[in-house]
Amino acid sequence: MIDLDLISDEEVKALDSEYSSWGDTVHYSADPKVFRSCEGSYMYDSKDTPYLDLQMMYSACNFGYRNKRITDAVIDQMNTLPQLTPKFLQQYKSLLSKKMCDIIDQRFHEKGRMHFNVGGAQATEDAIKIVRNYTHRNGFFAFQGGYHGRTIGATALTSSFRYREKYGHFGDRANFVPFPYCFRCPYGMNCESCNHFCVKQFARNFESEYKAIYDPKTGECEYKAFIAEPILGTGGYIDAPKWYFKELKEILDEHNIMLVIDEIQMGMFRTGKLWAIENYDVVPDVMTFAKSITNGMNPLSGLWAKEKYISPKVFTPGSAHSTYCSNPIGIRAAHEVMSIVEESQHDLEREIPIKSERFMNGLKYLKSKYKQVGDVGGIGFALRIELTQEDGYTPNRELCDAMQEEGLKGDLTYNGKKCGLVLNNGGFYKNVITLVPQLYISNEEIDMAIELLDQLLGRLTK
Ligand SMILES: Cc1ncc(COP(=O)(O)O)c(C=O)c1O
Repeated sequence: MIDLDLISDEEVKALDSEYSSWGDTVHYSADPKVFRSCEGSYMYDSKDTPYLDLQMMYSACNFGYRNKRITDAVIDQMNTLPQLTPKFLQQYKSLLSKKMCDIIDQRFHEKGRMHFNVGGAQATEDAIKIVRNYTHRNGFFAFQGGYHGRTIGATALTSSFRYREKYGHFGDRANFVPFPYCFRCPYGMNCESCNHFCVKQFARNFESEYKAIYDPKTGECEYKAFIAEPILGTGGYIDAPKWYFKELKEILDEHNIMLVIDEIQMGMFRTGKLWAIENYDVVPDVMTFAKSITNGMNPLSGLWAKEKYISPKVFTPGSAHSTYCSNPIGIRAAHEVMSIVEESQHDLEREIPIKSERFMNGLKYLKSKYKQVGDVGGIGFALRIELTQEDGYTPNRELCDAMQEEGLKGDLTYNGKKCGLVLNNGGFYKNVITLVPQLYISNEEIDMAIELLDQLLGRLTK
């Protein structure tokens, strides 16, 4: 019998308040919520009230909370080889590398290799190493609105100054390029008639040496890689137009600039494809992943790179390392996740768009009902509600914050039973509810999600 109530919620909060640093994100909230258990699409509080979760540990649990198959694999690993120095080999690491390379090869038709680490930000750091090691140059392009983690290196590639503000930086800050956010076009264009202005603007960087980054005589660019989320995660679940990445990649290839795709949040079928970049029919040079690779069970992250960037002759032994970089429990969880992927990838790719459409139809209904729903959109299960003032455009962060707080009260109702709703926000103005259900969400749970969102909007927009 598991004791879920060792100490009361009030004691949990009091102890945390006094003995834990407030430097993480818990204390964004004046009254942080305590949860006791989870299963499938739900988290449960100390009164056993179910909370439908539409953020799933920031997309780290795509395969559902306490997915039995993955949990059983981890328990088996705990009972056999739970610890191992990373300089020794273990069967599941080799099997995982092969499985991932094979699946990526089937999709990208490229031979590559895997390199593992422990968190998303560390995978970003390793991607920086792969690029710098190969190109012998520091500079990266990155997107305005992009997020790649909070280590000192990763914050140099993440556009928000607030993550660097208190710490400065060791590395070179990226050259931040506007993301094609069509609802709020950074160039003030209309997406119907823009004639791909944004990508053309990027190409203009290479017109003359006076654009400050390129030497037309040598063909050398100061920036040798572009790191990109194919769909902005923290930036508000904004998907680029279909043509964008293909046109961008052509420009990058022309100037020998590598494309590093960050799949940390949008990978693992979040968008209906295993990798989000597949929606754009582009093959990256390097690709990072984390989060749902273990279904949130144990930290593991990593990258895949094309052979020429990561072959043992180029990325030599000891080029990157961490004590936990191939921790056997994370590796085993990832191996089980990738086995699920291998077996059910085609079913997932067929089913997610169907369920996504059902979800989107519900969101469109909410947009038609509430003036404060300025825009709804997204792709697969990376969906978004952009909250605005009644004019349908001016960002409404207050409503976005209030919906999250209200959902956590646990006093909504569905089919006559009390329940809550767990939401997360993102976006340039923090006014976007990002909807991140587990991949196996049922039709009934989708209807429940729309009903609960309707209740929240009804309460808060009166
Ligand atoms: C796109 C993306 N990259 C990198 C990271 C950083 O991952 P981690 O929080 O595991 O360091 C995140 C985290 O949310 C992310 O969404």
